[in-house]
Amino acid sequence: MSKVTRVVIPAAGLGTRFLPATKAQPKEMLPVVDKPAIQYVIEEAIRNDLNNILVVTGRGKRSIEDHFDQSFELEQLLIESGRDADLELVRAISKLGTIHYIRQGRPLGLGHAVLAAKAHVGSEPFVTMLADDIMAENSDLLSNMLALHDTTGCSVLSLMEVPREQIRLYGCAEVVQKGDGTVQVVSVVEKPEPSEAPSTLAITGRYLFTPEIFGAIEATPSGKNGEFQLTDAIARLSQTQPVLGVIFDRGRYDIGDKLEYLRAVVEIALGREDIGPAFAAELRGILAREFQTS
Ligand code: G1P
Repeated sequence: MSKVTRVVIPAAGLGTRFLPATKAQPKEMLPVVDKPAIQYVIEEAIRNDLNNILVVTGRGKRSIEDHFDQSFELEQLLIESGRDADLELVRAISKLGTIHYIRQGRPLGLGHAVLAAKAHVGSEPFVTMLADDIMAENSDLLSNMLALHDTTGCSVLSLMEVPREQIRLYGCAEVVQKGDGTVQVVSVVEKPEPSEAPSTLAITGRYLFTPEIFGAIEATPSGKNGEFQLTDAIARLSQTQPVLGVIFDRGRYDIGDKLEYLRAVVEIALGREDIGPAFAAELRGILAREFQTS
């Protein structure tokens, strides 16, 4: 088992890519089938024995705390009406480990959000998980990152090939192959123009950091869009210690993007034992009708 137990989940962003749904609701609480996105992320953390969870929240994000808290009135109602299965579901959520919260204050960028976790994390390595990236339940990305950290002691990024025109949406990493089959990051740049991107490897929403990332964030001036960019701090960190990468190619849904969100809902619903078969039948019907009329 990995020695890493701490995870920081930045959840203070405004979610403007998903308006109007996110006008008065945190994007992290968007339901994917019947669970909010952030619950998938926290369940993934717990599956990987990351039990010390810190969520960095901000204004308008109270419903995240309420969701993971015990809901006494609701439990009482479910007990009285004999709805045991629902009661079990609700109780399971509040038992998902101890979740700590800290507020970011002004949303000054992802680097700034991670820096808000400094006092909580201390001098331990930790994982950062972005709540708008949710991973398929059978994904081994995070466990591979933890294993690589355990053998090397290094920071590890999650990297995915994307079409060149999409690299402007991501942090972009240039890597070199090492003899042992792993890759080392030689440069990173936040959201480059496709024509200037040094590669088509995108940094996705799982990071494993040594605590030196905090010093790197503190030493890094604001960057793209005037925000303190985590990617810029990673660039600085990689100048003082190796930063490695795990390249993966499946199982990720960026639910901040409307089309990817729909794909997540459909694929996750189809994979569910309880509703999957009935939903598949519905979907076949819809597609057959669409086919006939188009
Ligand atoms: C953030 C990071 C970016 C990273 C991306 C992964 O961007 O700044 O480097 O590639 O998350 O999803 P955002 O999606 O918040 O614009």
